[in-house]
Amino acid sequence: MIKLREEESEFMSKLLIEGGHTLSGVINVSGAKNSIVAIIPASILAEQEAVIENVPNISDTNDLISILNLLGVDSTFTDNTLKINNSNLKNILIPAELSTKLRASYYFMGALLAKYRHAELYYPGGCNIGARPIDIHLKSFEKMGVQVTFLDDKYILDAKELNGADIDLRFPSVGATINIMLAACKASGITRISNAAMEPEIVNVADFLNSMGAKITGAGTKEIVITGVNKFHNGNIKIIPDRIEAGTYLLAGALIGKDLVINNLNPNHLEALISKLEASGVKMQIDSDKITVSSSKNLIPINVKTLVYPGFVTDLGQPMQVFLARCNGVSLFEETIYENRMQHIKYLQKMGAKIKMDNNNIALIKGPCHLHGTSVTATDLRAGATLVLAALIAKGITKIDGVKHILRGYDSLPIKLKKVGAKIKIVE
Ligand code: UD1
Repeated sequence: MIKLREEESEFMSKLLIEGGHTLSGVINVSGAKNSIVAIIPASILAEQEAVIENVPNISDTNDLISILNLLGVDSTFTDNTLKINNSNLKNILIPAELSTKLRASYYFMGALLAKYRHAELYYPGGCNIGARPIDIHLKSFEKMGVQVTFLDDKYILDAKELNGADIDLRFPSVGATINIMLAACKASGITRISNAAMEPEIVNVADFLNSMGAKITGAGTKEIVITGVNKFHNGNIKIIPDRIEAGTYLLAGALIGKDLVINNLNPNHLEALISKLEASGVKMQIDSDKITVSSSKNLIPINVKTLVYPGFVTDLGQPMQVFLARCNGVSLFEETIYENRMQHIKYLQKMGAKIKMDNNNIALIKGPCHLHGTSVTATDLRAGATLVLAALIAKGITKIDGVKHILRGYDSLPIKLKKVGAKIKIVE
């Protein structure tokens, strides 16, 4: 067995993974990143206090808490519970270096509009997986009476009156659906969102807003109705399990698990992934809050196309490609949500995967591939998770650079994987 040494890399934070070790035991899934990143900005709408449970300890959470603190909000974050008190909230400009750290800083647009009818924010950051415009958010705000100006690299959103409106989304954007809900819950009158995104995280955010006195119905369907209210009270919510984290570990189990239990998940949120794995021949024991999975031989190649929820989620598209590389034959993968979500392919190829690209968003994957360890770079969050999966099944040691991307969205990934038998560690 190859020994992992601390001195493998002295200067950069890297993940070192020695592949080929069977994963057994229990992995507990944390709270959903895509919920907490909206719920933290939403918490400024509480009358004073909000209590949020099952909060994932990821860098996106910590960056948003830094923004809250900058806005004058007091917070404590212990044992995955975040308590906030916003009695001293101020509406001040969030510096570019903070708001460009993550995509979800744009939820302060909706939340500050609801609270102050005025918000100023720099363009949000996040993974470089496509152009990611925010035109749907801005056009929807305009329909509600907001004047949008872009000046000195920042958006100035100003509403003399914030009014409910009928908003038909040209695409069911997750971010726009949540941002409209945030602004609309304290607007005058009724807002109807048609062609709304239906992701489970949207329901979680609506439940939190409703816990504070908002009147939102239909979250989780294509039609959401929000009746504006003047006054909010204190709020509380439990963050739902992270379906992307759960799906990533489910794939790890399907690749190299033996009775690996993925615990604290909601299988209903993973239906598209589960049905693809079943079609490929993976055997799973599915219970109400956990799935037990083992790797299988002779996996059948399958075709996967990413879609909006409840279709196959784009965030699991990249990790899924490692599984396709293990199937016996040619699988076809198509990414339909983002234009630039294939930057990891060159690294999978470097590890020995036989992947042919067609048209930038279609990959023909020929398996079964036998991967080998090498040096690779995580270019974005899910690309990082993909390389971790590839490294877990590769022969030898893989060094993954760009660990900060992975830590944005996976709570304690090295610790969780080590506990079930992976040889993995972060070195500085
Ligand atoms: C959210 C998730 C992200 C996930 C994505 C799709 C968060 C913090 N992030 O991202 O993990 O990959 O949903 O499930 O929840 N679009 C526009 N104009 C807009 C808004 C979006 O053209 O104003 C396009 C985007 O460029 C993209 C597609 O719509 O091609 C989907 O974007 P959207 O659903 O808004 O994703 P995010 O909310 O950014």
